[in-house]
Amino acid sequence: MGWNSYNAFRDTVTDAQIREVADAIVSSGMKAAGYQYVIIDDGWEGERDSRGRLQPNSKFPDMKALADYVHSKGLKIGLWATPGPRACSPSYSGSYGHEKEDAEQWAEWGMDFIKFDWCSAGQIYSKEQQPLVYQKQAELLRATGRSMLFSICQYGDNKVYEWGAAAGGNMWRTTFDIRDTWASMSSVGFRQVELAQYAGPGHWNDPDMLEVGNGGMSNDEYITHFTLWAMAAAPLFAGNDVRRMSPATLDILLNREIIAIDQDPLGAAGRLLSRKDGLEIWTRNLTGGAFVVAFFNRTDAPTTMKVHWEKLKITGDYRVRDLWARENLAPASGLLQVNVPRHGVVALKLFK
Ligand code: GLA
Repeated sequence: MGWNSYNAFRDTVTDAQIREVADAIVSSGMKAAGYQYVIIDDGWEGERDSRGRLQPNSKFPDMKALADYVHSKGLKIGLWATPGPRACSPSYSGSYGHEKEDAEQWAEWGMDFIKFDWCSAGQIYSKEQQPLVYQKQAELLRATGRSMLFSICQYGDNKVYEWGAAAGGNMWRTTFDIRDTWASMSSVGFRQVELAQYAGPGHWNDPDMLEVGNGGMSNDEYITHFTLWAMAAAPLFAGNDVRRMSPATLDILLNREIIAIDQDPLGAAGRLLSRKDGLEIWTRNLTGGAFVVAFFNRTDAPTTMKVHWEKLKITGDYRVRDLWARENLAPASGLLQVNVPRHGVVALKLFK
C-alpha cells in the first residue's frame, strides 16, 4: 500500500510535493491505515553523471535528502524507471546500458521500491526477451544488498502474470493505464477476477494506481473501484492529491474493513461467482474461514441482488457484516439479498 505521483501530478511532480504528500499521509491517518510507500513516478530524471549514474532533474535537488525525509516520517520511498533508452515521455532518459549503475544509485539514495516501466524498451528488445530483461534488473537490485520491492510495468502484455513472479516481480501491471472514468476503471477492474490464480503473497496482479478522489467518478463508483481492488488483492496505491482530500475521499481510502480484505494474509484473490447482465457477484476467502461476498451493479439503474446458500456452498447460520455501512446485519441463513445502487457495490463479510 502507498501512494504514487502519476495520476495526480503526471510529470510535473516535485521534491516539495513529495515532502508535503509524505506529511499528509501521516496527518490524514493514511499511514496508520497501512499506506506505506511514497512513489515518485516518471518525471524525476535528469542527466547522467561522470560515473554513468542517472541523476535527478532540477525539480529534485537532492534525492538522498528527500529519501531521508520520507524515511523520517516512518514511510518508504520508491522511484519509477525504465529498461528502455528513453522514458515514456522521450525528454527523459532511461536505464538502458546503465542498469547496474542505476540500481546502485537507487540503493545509495535509500530507495525501497522500483517501478520498471517498458516504455521505449521495445526499440531494443523483443517481446520474448521481456522476462529476461526484468529478471536481470531484479538480480541487479538484489545485488545492491538493499531490499527494494520490484514493480513490473509492461501493461499486462505477453501474459506477464505467468512469468512475473519468477522474474522477481512483487507486482505486475495487468492492463494499460487507468483513467479517472467509470468506463476505464470498470474495464480494468472487472477483468482482474480472471487472473485470481496468479496472485499470492509476495507477488500480485496490479490493475494500476487508484483514481479515488480525482473527481471523475461518482462516490458510488469510487466505492466500487476501491472494493474491486480489495477483492482482487491488488496493491492499493492512492493516486490523488492527498494534501487536499474531501471527507468522502478519506472515508473511502481509510475504510479499514475493506483494507483488511485487501491485505488479508491468506492472499487468496476474489473469484467470480456469477456474471450476468451487468450484475456480478464475487467471493473472496479470508483467513480463519470467513469470506466476503461482493455484489457489483454495473448497470445504470439501482437493483436488488441475491445469492442462495447452495450457490455459496455453505450451510447453517452466518453472521453478516456490511463493510461499507460498517454495521452488523441480522444473522443470515439460506439467502442473502441486498439493494445495490447504480455502478455501486454491497460488500458483506460472512463469518461464524
Ligand atoms: C506508463 C505507465 C504509467 C506511468 C507512465 C509514466 O504509461 O503505465 O503508469 O508510469 O508511463 O510516463
